[in-house]
Amino acid sequence: MIPIIIDCDPGIDDTAALILATAAAPELKLLGVTTVFGNVPVERTTLNALKVMELCGSGHVPVAKGCARPVLRPARNAQFIHGATGLGRVDLPEPKAHPVAQHGVDFLIETIRGAPAPITLVAVGPLTNVALAIVKEPEVMRQLERIVIMGGTLRGLGNMPNTSSFNVYADPHATEIVLRSGLPLVICTIDATHMVRSTPRQLKLLREVGNRHAGVLADLFEEHAFEGTPEQLAADTPVGGCMHDPCCIAYLLAPDIFGGRMVNVQVDTSSELSMGRTVIDWWGHSDNPPNAFVINRADPEAFFDLLRGKVALLGNF
Ligand code: BDR
Ligand code: CA
Repeated sequence: MIPIIIDCDPGIDDTAALILATAAAPELKLLGVTTVFGNVPVERTTLNALKVMELCGSGHVPVAKGCARPVLRPARNAQFIHGATGLGRVDLPEPKAHPVAQHGVDFLIETIRGAPAPITLVAVGPLTNVALAIVKEPEVMRQLERIVIMGGTLRGLGNMPNTSSFNVYADPHATEIVLRSGLPLVICTIDATHMVRSTPRQLKLLREVGNRHAGVLADLFEEHAFEGTPEQLAADTPVGGCMHDPCCIAYLLAPDIFGGRMVNVQVDTSSELSMGRTVIDWWGHSDNPPNAFVINRADPEAFFDLLRGKVALLGNF
């Protein structure tokens, strides 16, 4: 049983991460969800997190609203991908639950401080909450088992105009704080998540699971599904609704689906041209010590097999 907290900005693929995490009980024990600005403003990511928790029969899981803006830069969003609400065209019922009174950063700190066993923090949005928790209570954050992060690029093929990845670009300074924290980090790069595409074939198989959760997932990703021609796939064209965030959850459940290595990772916060680009010393050319296990590849078939198997366990309520 792995105790986890998910820090997120739902978000289409964040929703997939939340559904997979709840479906994976009791292997994973979701202790709480903290929200951050990102794909949509934080009021909306919080509402969406509450809605998704209730969809999964996990309305009792505390949801704590976190930061509304990055440490230094103006807030950006990704509504052009995730839609105005953050959930594409999917309309989930209004939740009965409310966010807890505690701020997301304090919820992180107090939950980690009070936990009987080290927690794995899964951070799949901009890293603002995580960085502020590190700044506020570095000793408490040392109690973490590890932080599993979605973001960054190894080869510079990100999804932002300057080729960085959204989560890092959205708060590069927070990312720098996390990278320099000395905490055990796992970074699932976009190089890996771009391999995990929700193609029409995969969405058809997912829909065939037959329950409500599988249907919601298929609906969420359908708009962005793209099979890709053999040439595009061979050229590694990053098209199609990628299952970015649930890769972090799948990594906890079946790490063999992914490949990577311990390397040094830094982030550019000084040049507007490459703001938020990760610099990953894959070949060990520098003397900088490794600070993260960087995931650069994934097996999409194995990922979708795992996703379908777990989502089926949610039954039909
Ligand atoms: C990341 O950016 C967000 O838009 C997604 O939710 C994911 O966390 C992918 O680059
Ligand atoms: Ca996200």
